Amino acid sequence: MTLPTFAQPASPLFTRSIPSTGEPLPPVGLGTAEVFDVADTATLQKASAVVRALIDNGGKLIDTASTYGDAERILGDVIGPAGLRGKLFIATKLESPDVEELKRSLNRLQTAKLDLLQLHNVRNPQQSLGAFRDWKAQGVCRYIGITSTSHGAFAAVEAILGREKPDFVQIDYSIDDREAEQRILPLAAEVKAGVLTAVPFGRGRLFRAVRDRSLPDWAQSFAGSWAQFFLKYLLGDPRVTAVIPGTADAGHMADNLGAMRGPLPDPDQRRQMVEFIETL
Ligand SMILES: NC(=O)c1ccc[n+]([C@@H]2O[C@H](COP(=O)([O-])OP(=O)(O)OC[C@H]3O[C@@H](n4cnc5c(N)ncnc54)[C@H](OP(=O)(O)O)[C@@H]3O)[C@@H](O)[C@H]2O)c1
Repeated sequence: MTLPTFAQPASPLFTRSIPSTGEPLPPVGLGTAEVFDVADTATLQKASAVVRALIDNGGKLIDTASTYGDAERILGDVIGPAGLRGKLFIATKLESPDVEELKRSLNRLQTAKLDLLQLHNVRNPQQSLGAFRDWKAQGVCRYIGITSTSHGAFAAVEAILGREKPDFVQIDYSIDDREAEQRILPLAAEVKAGVLTAVPFGRGRLFRAVRDRSLPDWAQSFAGSWAQFFLKYLLGDPRVTAVIPGTADAGHMADNLGAMRGPLPDPDQRRQMVEFIETL
């Protein structure tokens, strides 16, 4: 693939700040749902190449979960022996505030401290982050957050986000699924929560929608590939802290990280991008 000049590794990377602290974070990360589910040699090799591509291309953020099959174990086996922990921002998720589940995640990830600990798939507006706050105070994690990709649970996300004011909210947001723009992002900005966008490619749906098409000429001033087009739509919203596309392919990881370089689409260009996608 030939990258446009702005996407070459020499052009500067931009970062986003985590709202609660101002800490800079490279805004393209790696999602690990399904791709690293099975602890076998082939998966370990793929994961190792993807994590190397993440680091070599200026990325840092890895998002995983206690329930993503063997993904935490695979990541620990990639990161621990190679001494890569200090180069990464590791986010994982627990199903509940269960200390045994937490210990299992720390063991599998081969780390004593997480960067971000999230309560996975919140669904009840009364769910508390009290234990997560205690763990943060004890130094088990640096940030806490909540996640959901179910629009039926957005009311619970809003209630918990407003009351508990976590450091991060992780929500599904893609160019063809923009409900979070109206419901979650404004509140996240109000309570100073960082936003991680799960399923930024609609689990691959967006690539299938454009499979026979070339990037339009007007998009080539800011995107060098369809992946960068989809990710830069999201990063064009300043309330988005980072996107976390899933991949088991090191080449795709490098392509995705190209979205951290060069110009972002302005509001008019973002409207044009949506109009284009809506015609497909
Ligand atoms: N409730 C929650 O908290 C929740 C729920 C869902 C997801 N998540 C998080 O969000 C992350 C992302 O979601 P996702 O992985 O389900 O879906 P996604 O990121 O929207 O799409 C992943 C798909 O895109 C493909 N892909 C990635 N980069 C590509 C590229 N440059 N060119 C072409 N194809 C590319 C991948 O295939 P290849 O492997 O071939 O690259 C994979 O099939 C998850 O991994 C997880 O960390 C959180």
